Formats: sequence, structure tokens, C-alpha cells
Amino acid sequence: MKIVVVIPTYNEAGSIGKVINDVCLNCPDAEILVVDDNSPDETYKSVEIFVKANPKIHLLLRKENRGRGYAGIDGFKKALSMDADFIVEMDGDGSHNPKYIANFLELANSSKCDAIIGSRYIDGGKDEERGFLRHFVSKSARFYLSFVLGVNIKDPTSGFRMFKRKVLEAFVDELRSNDPFIVTEILYYLKKNNCVIKEYPIEFLSRFAGKSKLKIQTLIKYLFKVLKLKLSEKK
Ligand code: GDD
Ligand code: MN
Repeated sequence: MKIVVVIPTYNEAGSIGKVINDVCLNCPDAEILVVDDNSPDETYKSVEIFVKANPKIHLLLRKENRGRGYAGIDGFKKALSMDADFIVEMDGDGSHNPKYIANFLELANSSKCDAIIGSRYIDGGKDEERGFLRHFVSKSARFYLSFVLGVNIKDPTSGFRMFKRKVLEAFVDELRSNDPFIVTEILYYLKKNNCVIKEYPIEFLSRFAGKSKLKIQTLIKYLFKVLKLKLSEKK
């Protein structure tokens, strides 16, 4: 059984080394695939050091079509070509604790589900502190996304997930998102393919360094994108 952990990175030089080490410590059997978009801070150079020292660590250096979405799609395709049975995606900023990968795997094996979402908003989960307004916008947006998609998911924008191989094989060629909306687009295809989705509670940590590329405006853009996705559906 092979697990490939896909980590998209853009300017994560301050974090990626520790993230790779943490994944190795927590999941010694997993392979790691960092998908870097030629980050100006030269994140890939830190990754290359690991690649030389450890055959389980891989780098996919992308030089065109920058974007969290495109990087994710290319990462999934590469993970499938590496014969992964399970594919994990997580941030390269330290906010996703790799200790949960073992929990995801256990849940996937015991409950016969197709995809696990690391959830900040179910019992046992925890999010970073936010002001009232941000919290309100984010909560309403999440409710709306799940409602439009028709899935009962409390954390539809989480980027920490595990998929069974067959799930990604079913729709990876249909994914189109260039940006972080990819995580919601994937939920759409999971639902369309009648996949069983489970959430596992995670404690979200503050990123080790740098800053988030996701702004509240982006979340609001999602509201329109998800509607477009639903409306474009062939009946
Ligand atoms: N290769 C690549 N190219 N990676 C990128 C890009 C890009 O253009 N933009 C962001 N990333 C990487 C970041 O370096 C990080 O490892 C991960 O993608 C997520 O970006 P963050 O900037 O940390 O996003 P966030 O934590 O605020 O956003 C959360 O929600 C998003 C969806 O709403 C995360 O869970 C994301 O994974 C998720 O996509
Ligand atoms: Mn992040």
C-alpha cells in the first residue's frame, strides 16, 4: 500500500523543510511530492536537498501556469503515475499536522469511505482565531458551499485531505480550477461520482512562516464559482 503526500508550495522556503521532516517522522512509509511553482523565494532549492538525500521525496517543479489549482491537478496526476493507493494533499506552511494522516488512513480502511476531509469545524476540530466578521463570513460561505453542492460537509474549504486512488482517477481529467477553488471543485466531483466522504477533526495550526495567499475576497468569489459549476451541469 502506497501513500503519496502532495504538497503544493509557493514561497514556503521558511516552512517546507520542517513540514517535510514532520511528514517523514509521522509517516515514515509515505512518499512526499512537493509541487512548487518556481517560487521566487526558491522554495525548490530547500526541497532539492531532501530529494538528493531521500528517494521517497520528490519535487515537481512547474514553470508555467502558476496556481494552487493547477499545481494540485499536476500533483495528483503525478501521484497516480507513482502508483499511489492513497493520495493526501496538505499545505506546505505548517498549518496541517501530518500526525492526522495515520488517522485518515485508519478511518478510510475501517469505514470504507472514498475521501477523508480534515475538518476544523466538527467536534474535536479547531480553527485559528479570527475576528467576528471574518468568522461570520467564513461560516456563512461554508454553509452556502455545502448547501449548493448538496453535501453535508462542515469544512468544504479544507485543503487537508486523503483520497483513494480510484476517486481521483475518476475525475482528475475534468478538474479545471487554477486557484484554491480546486478544493470545492473536487467536492463537486466527489458528490457527482457518489463517493462516500467522511470528515476527521483536525486542529488547524498557525503557519510556521510567510503569509496566506487566500484572501476573504477569494472566498466570496467561490460563492459565484460554485453556482456556475452547478448551473453548468448537464442534466
Ligand atoms: N504550487 C503552488 N502554486 N502552490 C501554491 C500556490 C500556487 O500558485 N498558491 C498557494 N500555494 C500553496 C501554498 O504555498 C500552501 O502550501 C498551499 O498552497 C495553500 O496556500 P495557503 O496560502 O496556505 O492557503 P490557506 O491556508 O490560506 O488556504 C486554505 O484554504 C484553501 C481553499 O480555500 C488551505 O487549506 C488551502 O490548501 C486551500 O486550497
Ligand atoms: Mn495554509
